[in-house]
Parts: sequence; structure tokens; C-alpha cells
Amino acid sequence: MRYRVAAIVPAAGSGKRLKARTKKPFVSLAGRPLITYALKALDSSKYIDEIYVAADPDSIKRLESVIYKYGIRKVTKIVAGGKTRAGSVKNCFDLVNPLCDIVLIHDGARPFPGDSDIMNSVLLAGRFGGCVTAIPMTDTVKLADKRLFIKKTIDRSSLWRAQTPQAFRYGMLKKALCEAKDISGVTDDASILENLGRRVKILKGSPRNIKITTIEDLKIAEVLI
Ligand code: C5P
Repeated sequence: MRYRVAAIVPAAGSGKRLKARTKKPFVSLAGRPLITYALKALDSSKYIDEIYVAADPDSIKRLESVIYKYGIRKVTKIVAGGKTRAGSVKNCFDLVNPLCDIVLIHDGARPFPGDSDIMNSVLLAGRFGGCVTAIPMTDTVKLADKRLFIKKTIDRSSLWRAQTPQAFRYGMLKKALCEAKDISGVTDDASILENLGRRVKILKGSPRNIKITTIEDLKIAEVLI
């Protein structure tokens, strides 16, 4: 079955941790604005039909011209972001075409989503209702108190680091967003469903799919390119 898929790209973060003069979506990565990488990857995937982007209201005009310049064709709407990532996703979701079967969410700050990750996220969301790309934890994980004394070591064998893409059946995400009382504290989209007791499947992702948060991440991304 061919699903109709809407992609949501939250890109309205402040980017403060990057300490750049330019707003994060426009920071140069190997000569191109950071946001173009995620958007191009989604735009060229045959599994994505339309794209909704959440941006800082002051950046919308600039983003429109970047999208035009880089020939990105599937962006349907650019929406003003919310105070939190979850708020930005919700603002986009409210405008998503209700005829969509699947909604795939991918951070604008992750320039390297794999084409197979996009495809498999869509297929697993269709099969299980919800799917999150994640990588197994390789470091030993400590639980610490506020004074930085270790309370205990957590068994890492069942721990995963969540990334995006995360994909969900449209109806399931809609219901979860309606039922959720407060989404302001959630840092990813799967949490909204988990908190309501819904099952979400993990898709093993790639360590290459990094999120650009600090200047060091930008340097790593340049090396990966
Ligand atoms: O803050 P964090 O690093 O988790 O942000 C992940 C993504 O969410 C980034 O692409 C960022 O631009 C976006 N975001 C957003 N609206 C916010 C905060 C973050 O769209 N209010």
C-alpha cells in the first residue's frame, strides 16, 4: 500500500548553544544553510508528499527564499514555531492535510537522515502505529544526584538514544495530541504516545544522523560531509 505522508520539520529553536550570529537554520554547513540538508533529504524521498516547517516568525521570509533558491518543492507551509519543540510540532500538525495516512517528524537540526530511515519509519509507522529511529547506548550510563554523586549505574543493554525521523499514523497522533494534557515538557514526539500507554516501535538508526547543537557538532558534520 502507498501511504500519503506529511513531513513536519521543527526548526524554530533558538540555537543559543551554537553561539552563532546567524539563526541556526541558516548557519553555513559546507557552504549551504543547515536547514537545506534536512529539507532536501525529505524533498527527494519518494515516500514524502508534503512538508510543513516550523520556524521562528522573524525567519519565515528568509526561509522562503532559501527554499526557493535550493529548489525544494514539497514545502506546503511554513508555520510560526511554539515556545517548545512540541509546541512547534503541534502548530504544524494543526495544518497538516487530514487526508494523510502518516506524519513523519524530523528535526531541522539533523542534516543527515538516511533515505532508508525515512522509508522504514513510514513503513513501520504504517504497520505498528508509531516508530522512532534510535541508536543503542554505547556509553555506561550513571544516575546522579544534584550534587553530582552517582546514585547508580543503569543497565545500558535496553537503553536507546532517540533520534528523528519519528513517524506515526495520522489518526493516532491526532488522538494522542488531543488527549495529552500538557506536552510542553516532552522532548520528542513518541513520548506523547508513550505517556498515553501506546506502543511505539524502534527502528535502529545510524550514528551519522547527528543533531547540530554546538559548534563541535558543526565541525563533526563538516567532516562527515
Ligand atoms: O531543542 P532541541 O535540540 O531538542 O531541538 C530539536 C529541534 O526542534 C530543532 O530542529 C529545533 O529547531 C526545533 N525546535 C522548535 N521549536 C522550539 C524548540 C526547538 O522547532 N521551540
